[in-house]
Amino acid sequence: MIQTVKGTRDILPTDTPVWQRVEAVAREAFRRYGFGEIRTPIFEKTELFARGVGEATDIVHKEMYTFTDRARKDREGELLTLRPENTAPVVRAYIEHKLYADKTPGELTRLYYIGPMFRREQPQAGRFRQFYQIGAEVLGSSDDPAIEAEVIEMLDWFLKQLNITDTTLLINSVGDPASRPAYLEKLRAAIAGNLDKLCGDCHHRYETNPLRVFDCKVESCQAVIATLPTITDNLDDASREHFEQFKAHLDARGIAYTVNPRMVRGLDYYTRTAFEIIGSSLGAQNTLVGGGRYDGLSETLDGPPTKGFGFAFGLDRMVMSLPESEVEKARAAGKADVFIVWLGEAARLHAFKVAKDLRAVGFAVALEFEERRMKKAMAQASKSNARYALIIGEDEVRSDKYALKNLATGAQETVEFAGLVVRLSGQPA
Ligand code: HAM
Repeated sequence: MIQTVKGTRDILPTDTPVWQRVEAVAREAFRRYGFGEIRTPIFEKTELFARGVGEATDIVHKEMYTFTDRARKDREGELLTLRPENTAPVVRAYIEHKLYADKTPGELTRLYYIGPMFRREQPQAGRFRQFYQIGAEVLGSSDDPAIEAEVIEMLDWFLKQLNITDTTLLINSVGDPASRPAYLEKLRAAIAGNLDKLCGDCHHRYETNPLRVFDCKVESCQAVIATLPTITDNLDDASREHFEQFKAHLDARGIAYTVNPRMVRGLDYYTRTAFEIIGSSLGAQNTLVGGGRYDGLSETLDGPPTKGFGFAFGLDRMVMSLPESEVEKARAAGKADVFIVWLGEAARLHAFKVAKDLRAVGFAVALEFEERRMKKAMAQASKSNARYALIIGEDEVRSDKYALKNLATGAQETVEFAGLVVRLSGQPA
């Protein structure tokens, strides 16, 4: 038997309504906050991620699904990669389509995306090789910290809407490229004295980008990491002021947060504000949302000077974090409005017509094609969790009136088609 590839999975119809509910609430949040949807390809040139996300990151260094495209007669095969994240692709699209071109100074471009990402990580609970992200990016000439607070306010609304309450917002500033070299020198010196206590990956990070040492999950490295100087303590005045303003904007919105000076995020493009939202019900893979500012990513990708801020959350993890009541609500929304039970050949043909007419006015209708005894058919109607069962027998065909049973209360009444529509629309008797 051929099965799914390690780290990938099927999402079956019992669960898709739950995913759709999270997606629908996210789309509603994006609508309210003025974001437009962008859909980019799931594979891109490898160079986009190497330059955008950074060669020294775990994502690029270890986790990408990269392949050589077939060579054509005049060209060698190109190196392509299944997208491990979507900020670099969105910025590429922003540059490629000159989405900045007809903007007035200060006007922002707000984009969102929903789709699969691919990372060759060790699968475990909440961590997959194909996972799904919902993310948003705000691009333009302004780096106002109020933009950051507004995006977090939107996430706050989204989480409340789904009744996901037990979360913590962690924030930090990772400084800007101007202040970073001096700090990196300091950091490198501090790491140099402890190299013998650090893992092989950290040695590589020390050589390529010492800030990445903070990403290390190896237990024995943690004691060293706890002693390293933090970037937050080494910010230049402008970055410190930016961080203070960001916090003030969060305060003004009544959004609680914790400053975590060791949170640097695992992607190289971040500047200044970085944040994560941690969930309580997820175990080791507890980061629900990750995001931050990435001024200069556009320039790295040969685009115009651009400021950027955004986030992505793992849809898989968001679904896992939903309280049971929300899961049930979502599943209920995926059920049929009415299950038609028919008895006899004349009723069967009539049932097809009633089903078509009900579907035409917008109801979700279930019916079976094979005849069953009344008792079996009613049991099936209950099992389907439809709201109503509509019973059509020879009498009903003759009279054009139907027996309608509310499957939750057991109440039954006789209705004509017009009455049926009224009842299915949720109006009381
Ligand atoms: P990230 O922190 O790499 O950031 O990923 C964001 C979220 O994607 C994580 O918090 C997690 O919920 C989910 N995620 C990541 N890897 C996996 C996995 N293997 N399995 C399941 N879920 C996963 C980014 O990707 C940035 N592009 C976010 C961003 C947007 N920053 C600015 N704009």
